[in-house]
Amino acid sequence: MSSCLDAAHPETAPAATSRFRPAIHFSARDTWLNDPNGLVFYDGVYHLFFQNNPYGNVWGNMSWGHATSRDLLHWTEHPVALACDETEDVFSGSVVVDHGNTSGFGTAEAPALVAIYTSAYKAASKHSGTQAQSLAYSTDAGMTWRKYEGNPVLTRHSANFRDPKVFRYEGDQGACWIMVAVEAQHQKVVFYRSEDLKSWEFLSDFGPANADAGEWECPDLFPLAVDGDPDNIKWVLIVNINPGAVAGGSGGQYFVGHFDGVRFLPDAGSLVAPAGVSALGDSSAAAAALQQCLWLDWGRDCYASVSFSNAPDGRRIIIGWMNNWDYANQLPTAPWRSSMTLARELRLTAGNGSARLTQQPVLAGLCAGEELPAADEQMQSGTFELRNSSVRLPEAVPGSAQIIEAEILPQSAEEVAFHLFGNDEGSAGTVLSYNAATAELVLDRRRSGNTGFHEEFSSVESAPLVLEDGVLKLQIVVDHCSVEVFAQDGKVVLTDLVFPDQGYAENRLRVEGGLATVRTLTVTALG
Ligand code: FRU
Repeated sequence: MSSCLDAAHPETAPAATSRFRPAIHFSARDTWLNDPNGLVFYDGVYHLFFQNNPYGNVWGNMSWGHATSRDLLHWTEHPVALACDETEDVFSGSVVVDHGNTSGFGTAEAPALVAIYTSAYKAASKHSGTQAQSLAYSTDAGMTWRKYEGNPVLTRHSANFRDPKVFRYEGDQGACWIMVAVEAQHQKVVFYRSEDLKSWEFLSDFGPANADAGEWECPDLFPLAVDGDPDNIKWVLIVNINPGAVAGGSGGQYFVGHFDGVRFLPDAGSLVAPAGVSALGDSSAAAAALQQCLWLDWGRDCYASVSFSNAPDGRRIIIGWMNNWDYANQLPTAPWRSSMTLARELRLTAGNGSARLTQQPVLAGLCAGEELPAADEQMQSGTFELRNSSVRLPEAVPGSAQIIEAEILPQSAEEVAFHLFGNDEGSAGTVLSYNAATAELVLDRRRSGNTGFHEEFSSVESAPLVLEDGVLKLQIVVDHCSVEVFAQDGKVVLTDLVFPDQGYAENRLRVEGGLATVRTLTVTALG
C-alpha cells in the first residue's frame, strides 16, 4: 500500500481548499472517507465508523475509520478501527451491542460491541474474488477491535454480497439477530437470521422493485411508529442505489411495509414499480415512476444513509455520506476529501396509501447558536411582503455554518428564491427556489463556484413540494461546501455540495412574478 496523497491531486493544495472544511459536518482530518459504518450508541457515546483510506484522499485501501461524539455534531477522530490487510479490504457494515453475550466475545455484565463487515477479498486470499461477511469485536467500548479468527461467518460465494446491517429482532418465537445485506448487482436485499452472530440461516430476499437501474447497496431495516402511535408500527427498508437515483448517480430510496421475522412485505402504496423501474424500459412511464419512488433525499449528495443501533429513547437517527460516486474522487479539497451529512432523526407520518418518512436535522448540541442580526431593515420588522424584489440576509461567516429558517406564503409569486453564497454582482451563487407553476423545490448549483472539476457536477435538482395552508416552510443548513434543505417539516429533503469561489458570501431572498409574504425569517450561526 502506498500513499496517494498529493500525488493524485496536486492541483488541490491544502491552503487553497481549507475554507471548504465543514464547520458542523464530520470530515476526516487528512484522508478520504465514504459510507458511514457501524453507527452505534454505547455508554453515552455515538460512534461513527466510516469507509476510510488511511493512506490517501481517493478511494482505496478500504478500512474503518473511527470518530466519536456525545451530541452528533462535535466529533473526535480516533485511530483506524479495522484495517485492510493483504487478504481483504474492510467494506461497509454495522455494529451491535451484544447485550446477551450471544457471541461469547464479551460477558453478560460487560457486553462486547460486535462489528459485522464485508470482507472484500483480494488476490492473496483463498476467497479471492468474493465478498463475504465477517466479524470483529471490541471489549473496550469500541476503541480497539480484533477480527474474529473464524471469518468469514457467511458466504454465498458471490462477488457482490455486501453491506450487512444487523439488528436484534423480538418475534413470537423469541429474539434473534437479523441481517439485511445486498446482492448488489441483482438488486436484491437478502435476509438472514442468527442466534450467535456466527452462524447464519437464509430467510428470504426482496427485489428488484422501484428504483433498480444501478447496484443496490447499504440496506437498513427498522420499525417506526406511524405518527408516534405505538399500536401502529411499520417497517422501513432503506435501499441505497448507485447509479440510478432520482437526481442522477447515487441516492437513497426506501420502502414502507411489514417485516414478519422472515420476509419484508411492502405496502402497496410504497410499490411504484413492483418489478423495478427498469422493467418499464426507456419510457416516460419509467421516468415518472422514478419520481414517485420514495426518496430519502432529492439532492445529488446523500448516499449510503443508515441508522444508529442502540440509539437512546427509541430514536431512529441516520447519517449519510454527503457525496455522489459520479464525481466523489475529484472533489476539489485536500488533504481531506468528503464529509458526512448531518445526523437526521426519522419519523413516519401517515400519507396517501403509505406512510412517509420525515427527517429533522439533529442540532440540539448547537442550541447556543447565535441568531445573526438582520442585514436589512425589512427583516427586522418580522412579517413583511416582497413583490418582485429582494431582501439581503446576513452573509455567510467564515468558520461558522448557518441555518436559515423561513415560513413564506408564496401567494401570487411565480418564484421564491434564496440566492446563497452569491457574489456582489449577483451573477453567481447557489439558488434554492420554489417554483409555483410546477410546485417544485429546485436547487441550482450551475453557477455556485467551482463546478469544473468534473463534468457531472454542474446540475439542477428538483423535488415535488406541496404547500401546507399556502405556506412554504424551510430549514436550510449552509456549511462551507454544502446546502442541506429540510422543507415542510422534513417531508422533502435536498442535499447538494457546492464549492463557492473565494469571497462568495452574499445571501439574499428574492421574489419574482408577484407578491409573497414572509411570515418568519431568521439566520442563526452554528458551530
Ligand atoms: C457504497 C459502497 C459499499 C461498499 C463500500 C466500499 O458506497 O460501494 O457497497 O461496501 O462502498 O467502499
